[in-house]
Amino acid sequence: MADTTVYRASTTAPVNIAVVKYWGKRDAKLNLPTNSSISVTLSQADLRTLTTASCSTIFTSDSLTLNGEDSDISGARTQACFRELRARRAALEEKDASLPKLAALPLKIVSENNFPTAAGLASSAAGFAALVQAIANLYQLPDSPSELSKFARQGSGSACRSLFGGYVAWRMGEKEDGSDSLADLVAPASHWPSMRALILVASAAKKGVSSSSGMQQTVASSGLFQERIKTIVPANMDLMEDAIKNHDFEKFAEVTMRDSNSFHACCADTYPPIYYMNDTSRAAVRAVEAINAKAGKTIAAYTFDAGPNCVVYYLDENKDAVLGGFADALKAVSGFEQGAVAAVAGVIDETVTS
Ligand code: ADP
Ligand code: DP6
Ligand code: CO
Repeated sequence: MADTTVYRASTTAPVNIAVVKYWGKRDAKLNLPTNSSISVTLSQADLRTLTTASCSTIFTSDSLTLNGEDSDISGARTQACFRELRARRAALEEKDASLPKLAALPLKIVSENNFPTAAGLASSAAGFAALVQAIANLYQLPDSPSELSKFARQGSGSACRSLFGGYVAWRMGEKEDGSDSLADLVAPASHWPSMRALILVASAAKKGVSSSSGMQQTVASSGLFQERIKTIVPANMDLMEDAIKNHDFEKFAEVTMRDSNSFHACCADTYPPIYYMNDTSRAAVRAVEAINAKAGKTIAAYTFDAGPNCVVYYLDENKDAVLGGFADALKAVSGFEQGAVAAVAGVIDETVTS
């Protein structure tokens, strides 16, 4: 009789919000970036992806259910993840004939984000990190987080950074095959444990231009972008790594805000222009400025991914001034959704869970 066992493994994965942004691909097929980037991995208490991967002879084909709906898996990115992970499993099965032959079975992936999908809160990062880790768990792969980050990168660039907790760099690498384009740890969360992220949801709606498409348009048409990847990002990478190493919040904050502004300026310089930030986002920028002006120093830093939603980094010792300042500012700002403060997340060390 045919073996109808359903093999199954689950994982959760966190979002990460970049402080030096990835924007631009030098190779769209392998998802190789035009610049390195740095992010902070946020606690999974509020924002996380939960993914279950199963395989069995009873499934007829590969499938992905995302937030309860059938999702297209024919795209090259998902296919690349499936292919790479299957190849790793097949290699194990070849070495050890006693292992069940899982690589040949159809994969069923069921995933759910507990926060807005495709709204500029890094759903593709948590999503593909979880997809890769869930399948790696199912296949019992021995690969390190760095190795798995190369698979996740092919699903969504930012996903490679969600394989690590803490402060994480994605080194762009130089090789054409992408073998050196992977995530590595800048510092664990314990290095600077008082870092917090306030997440403000200006809109949970799906963005009009996906990150993948937006960055391709920027690479193709923005002159400003050339300056960004040549001089601005390399300088910001150095400044940011030093700020993190030295616990220098004022420097961390300035580079974070400048890099977000530079990225959105490149979006505006794209032809035709792309606008991810809206009036509500700009009100959040002003609120952060007011908080910092009142404190007489920089105690809060805004950053925006490819969407209108705001993430504010601050240190726990300034919680009252930052959260209080926002509560005051938000009263005057129309546009923030009910329960706009979606989460106050710490930085975490542990990342994907098995
Ligand atoms: P975001 O700003 O949320 O990262 P993107 O435009 O980068 O938005 O990517 C959104 C896309 O990422 C979704 O349309 C979907 O294809 C994919 N995605 C999001 N969450 C998941 C998930 N949990 N599992 C698999 N793919 C996901
Ligand atoms: C603005 O990783 O979502 O959030 O690789 O095409 O899936 P793809 O793009 P994605 O882009 C993220 C862009 C960003 C900045 C960042 O996270 O570094
Ligand atoms: Co994304």
